Amino acid sequence: MSRPTLGARCLDLTDPATFVDNDVHAFWREVRAERPVFWHEPTGDVPGFWAVARYADVQALYHHEALSSERGNILDVVLRGDDSAGGSMLAVTDDPRHRPLRNLIWSAFTPRVLGEVVEKVRRRAAELVGGVTGAGTFDFAVEVAEQIPMHTICDLLSIPHADRADLLRWNKMALSSVHADSDELDALSARNEIVLYFMELAQERRDAPGDDVVSMLATARVEGRLLTVEELAVNCYSLILGGDETSRVSAICAVLALIDNPGQWRALRAGEVAVESAVEEVLRWATPGIHLARTAVRDLEIGGRQVRAGDIVTLWNVSANNDESVFDEPRRFLLSRSPNKHLSFGHGPHYCLGAFLARAELKALLSALAGGVARMELRGTPRPIYSTFLNGFESLPVSFGGR
Ligand code: HEM
Repeated sequence: MSRPTLGARCLDLTDPATFVDNDVHAFWREVRAERPVFWHEPTGDVPGFWAVARYADVQALYHHEALSSERGNILDVVLRGDDSAGGSMLAVTDDPRHRPLRNLIWSAFTPRVLGEVVEKVRRRAAELVGGVTGAGTFDFAVEVAEQIPMHTICDLLSIPHADRADLLRWNKMALSSVHADSDELDALSARNEIVLYFMELAQERRDAPGDDVVSMLATARVEGRLLTVEELAVNCYSLILGGDETSRVSAICAVLALIDNPGQWRALRAGEVAVESAVEEVLRWATPGIHLARTAVRDLEIGGRQVRAGDIVTLWNVSANNDESVFDEPRRFLLSRSPNKHLSFGHGPHYCLGAFLARAELKALLSALAGGVARMELRGTPRPIYSTFLNGFESLPVSFGGR
């Protein structure tokens, strides 16, 4: 049977440059209206896949038992074949194994641990913003945004300070490609470095457990057995992978959006809008993870289309978060937007485990900006990230003026 495609108007969703060189919002608007579930044709050696654009479909499919994450949950990975962490890393593990593993990791984030981490985030954000205010032109991405999430995850995992710069560097190489021609081999070796690092750490903490998340994971049992050192390593990695770049790009996006929308920035500074509400709009506006991918484990119908077992199905958060049937004037950045049930953290069983921390980081940043910065100006051209998964910028030259 021939599959309904989008024809010549389809952007190549497998090419990172697509998301930099095109008005993707105009594209998705058209897709939602005309072909909300479409077949993305194969390109060269790259297989075809389904793309789902409407909010209601995306939200419902996050819960669908016929869609598996085990071959990977990011398009790049699924198109290349299986995710090597499938079945052991939380995000790419299906039930029945997923639920007890998720419960274990969640239980390691005790209120005490989270409370301490959030307090450190608040202090760190205030210090970082204070340090760059009145200091002339600086790169917000490097001087501020990059400094918050990685330290937060490292605080959560009690990673020694001396090791953090290496982890940040490897993680950048492993996920986002800031240059269109970045090397896949470098990304692979960076991923290996991170896993090896965590294998050593997990073994150390298993041998001499302390009062930290890694020690708890290393000594707890899931379905009656200890996790292997490899499983521990990929799940620690999963926290870094999930928590660093996504939070970083949302912070960068927040500052850019506030500069582009001076009325909203004034409202935030004047306390006319709750910081919690502003955080949700930043998350919707940024949509750090453009899409999530799944693989059909049996035939199913999506939006009247026949999906076959083995087909790749992609859920486009960036489109769902701008679906005009759910969000009024979706391309308006409106900090007081309510309701604002964006899908930036996904939905259903794999809903982001770090959502609480990600929100705390953004809240700390917005509070520090609103409380300590009078003027924010763009001082150069933001440099975009080239990625089919990660949305945003890797450089943002700005200046902040004090009160
Ligand atoms: C899952 C987004 C921050 C750890 C997810 C998912 C999304 C997401 C969309 C669902 C994946 C799927 O359905 O396949 C984000 C965004 C963040 C953020 C936009 C920041 C703005 C964090 C942080 C952490 C984290 C700070 C770590 C503390 C995880 C983990 C999962 C996950 C472990 C897998 C959960 C599971 O499979 O049960 N995240 N995330 N994320 N996230 Fe986040």
